[in-house]
Amino acid sequence: MRKLIATATAVAVLSICLLTGCSTGGDGVIRIVFAAGQDPSGATAALIEEYNASHPGIEVTFQVMPANTDTQHDAYVTYLSAREPGIDLYSLDVIWTAEFSRAGWIRPIPDGLFDESDFLSGPLESVKYEDAIYAVPWFTDAGVLYYRSDLLENAGLAVPETWSEFTQVCRSVAEPADITGFIWQGAKYEGLVCNFLESLWSRGGDISAETLRNSPERAVRDVESTIDFMLQLIETGISPASVLTYKEEESRRLFTEGQALFLRNWPYVWSIAEDEESSVAGAVGIAPLPHAEGERSYSTIGGWNIAVSTYSRHPEEAFEFLAFITGERSLSLRAIEGGYLPTRKSTYDDPDVLAANPHYGGFFDVFQNTRNRPRTPHYPIASDIIQENVHRALTGEFDSHAAAESIVTEMAAILSR
Ligand code: GLC
Repeated sequence: MRKLIATATAVAVLSICLLTGCSTGGDGVIRIVFAAGQDPSGATAALIEEYNASHPGIEVTFQVMPANTDTQHDAYVTYLSAREPGIDLYSLDVIWTAEFSRAGWIRPIPDGLFDESDFLSGPLESVKYEDAIYAVPWFTDAGVLYYRSDLLENAGLAVPETWSEFTQVCRSVAEPADITGFIWQGAKYEGLVCNFLESLWSRGGDISAETLRNSPERAVRDVESTIDFMLQLIETGISPASVLTYKEEESRRLFTEGQALFLRNWPYVWSIAEDEESSVAGAVGIAPLPHAEGERSYSTIGGWNIAVSTYSRHPEEAFEFLAFITGERSLSLRAIEGGYLPTRKSTYDDPDVLAANPHYGGFFDVFQNTRNRPRTPHYPIASDIIQENVHRALTGEFDSHAAAESIVTEMAAILSR
């Protein structure tokens, strides 16, 4: 089914290209298509308009892709496997660089296109594969805990740091206020992998190749207790059972409508929560995610990079646009309008960026403890193993011990490939 939807999406994208005429038209204008997920702030569309206005011989079109990273991935894979030239630039999730560069789908970045020294080290690492650079970092992400500062203040409570404090606060504050305690991304997709790993790391566990090789029993125990903890959140009513269908936006909406005390999500939520249409504007705080007693908080590193397709017919123009859309001005505007965290260090010194994002200091704490998902060209298989087993265990279809054993055995096989 997933493949079918992906193929349908790719065909739809291709039809748009055929209709609008990607590449060069009879008018001599070079047409470039940039595919990326939606930017609700409108900053990306405004930047493209500005670029087109100052480049009369070039017309860049923004091809908006489905927000869900897995759907986007499958559409791109279908499209690139068919060597379609209709899309010149792709925005890629940080977890795809190895897979896409190994398949020969994206071009190495020409020397000197961007100043590497201005980029944050995490995002810069994510664009490299076997010593070459295949993309330019666009924005970075890390899992954040959003909380209702008004409700915690009224109750005279501090932001909980450990999971046991956290569950107590949910009971004593959310239940009497008749709102949900904790909303996260539990649908069967990549976001669940991020939520699961954060919870696993925060109790001292991990599923790195080394741990799976040297201490598989310990890994099974930690994975099982993580799944059990996530299950308990649902069984005790701290999280609603519907959390198992939520992706980023479903969970974000409930929180900005004032229906939850805590939300785990990415930094983009901040500007929406503070918007005048939000029911919780001025009543939201951000903090690192909770951790088990004696352990520390971890956030999954996310983010998006931009690469030029091997099949682009206008690579020179595509690279020129890439330099613009990942340039200082573009990153500043997207930070100001959409709260997207810049990948350039210098953008954090821009006074307009800081004025629009006074909370960036809070993100700084979160960014101290970030971790990567497993880095492998077989990442989609690794992700499927986690998604399938964790989701089925959370819906009660699989026993948590059996799910943990499958994750550990199958991941060990993938990571040793
Ligand atoms: C965000 C992150 C991305 C992650 C995705 C999961 O878009 O930037 O890295 O894979 O969420 O849903």
